[in-house]
Amino acid sequence: MTIIVTGGAGFIGSNFIFYMLKNHPKDRIVCLDKLTYAGNLSTLAPVMEHPNFRFVKADICDREAVCRLFEEEHPDMVVNFAAESHVDRSIENPGIFLQTNIMGTAVLMDACRSYGIIRYHQVSTDEVYGDLPLDRPDLFFTEETPLHTSSPYSSSKAAADLLVLSYQRTYGLPVTISRCSNNYGPYHFPEKLIPLMIINCLKEKPMPVYGEGLNVRDWLYVEDHCRAIDLILHHGREGEVYNIGGHNEMRNIDIVRLICKELGKPESLITHVADRKGHDMRYAINPEKISGELGWVPETKFADGLRKTIHWYLDHREWWEEIVSGAYQEYYETMYGNR
Ligand code: NAD
Ligand code: TYD
Repeated sequence: MTIIVTGGAGFIGSNFIFYMLKNHPKDRIVCLDKLTYAGNLSTLAPVMEHPNFRFVKADICDREAVCRLFEEEHPDMVVNFAAESHVDRSIENPGIFLQTNIMGTAVLMDACRSYGIIRYHQVSTDEVYGDLPLDRPDLFFTEETPLHTSSPYSSSKAAADLLVLSYQRTYGLPVTISRCSNNYGPYHFPEKLIPLMIINCLKEKPMPVYGEGLNVRDWLYVEDHCRAIDLILHHGREGEVYNIGGHNEMRNIDIVRLICKELGKPESLITHVADRKGHDMRYAINPEKISGELGWVPETKFADGLRKTIHWYLDHREWWEEIVSGAYQEYYETMYGNR
């Protein structure tokens, strides 16, 4: 089996590649990645020389490059992680989100149609459902929850999901979609909440909580997400959407406090800054479909996963120090300088 994994130099894609090479040693994994600011080739260094791995630098929007790769590799499956993924960046500059997340998805699916494929899997997000109110803890996102997006990021992901489903209905393309809640773990880019707070806390820099920090996210350890995608690829039903989440709702402020505690730093580092525009209040997944149909349950408890993640950042300083010393500094100044 040959599987093209797009966006494999990013956070979840790289973890998925490691997971697949370990758990499906006979499969060939071809990573296609543009290496945007979020893609990091050093992340893939441990597998670069693996006999069943190939890396190709290309843009999923580049039709010619994508078709060339299909001609060379004759992939059996495509798993599309490639995306612009940060909500705050989408608020500043929506255009590239529409380009990569929607048009790039269309290019990949067109190639799948032309060359034939046994499965195209779209990695989507629970953010396509919008948010839930804080005072209704009884409500959860199911696969039937209407799409109701808040940010240019989530809108671009929802548009891509609709396109994927339309290719199944119109052309019979064998697709599946997964909509996962917030991930955390190794190789998470430092612009996102958990790695940003770990790094700032370590450096004893202010830890910028948006608004009061009461927003709730449903956190899942990245390896549990990878295992869920593997199950969907091999056992999920064509044309179906699967929500992925582990009933682990946490308020932002509580996560930030836990990070201070784990690193033995004072909570006085926590600073409240201007809120995100259109900030979603609560995400919470109902995972009954994937657990009932495919037997998936998350294995990593949040307390263990967070501790593991913090220790990973402590043990891999060179990985994130290289990122935060480069162009990321300019981003940080723009986003947080006068906030
Ligand atoms: P990330 O930003 O860490 O990585 C994205 C990767 O895609 C990078 O390697 C980047 O170079 C690559 N890329 C971007 N544009 C590209 C293009 N035009 N062509 C080829 N490659 C391109 O993102 P992530 O957090 O790993 O998220 C991966 C996927 O999972 C995304 O589709 C995202 O929407 C989805 N998702 C993420 C989360 C989360 O919590 N991070 C949760 C649910 C779903
Ligand atoms: P983020 O990691 O950007 O993921 P998403 O917006 O996709 O859920 O943010 C998680 C939560 O943390 C979200 O409610 C915004 C908040 N947040 C902060 O309070 N401060 C920060 O510096 C960042 C990056 C996020």
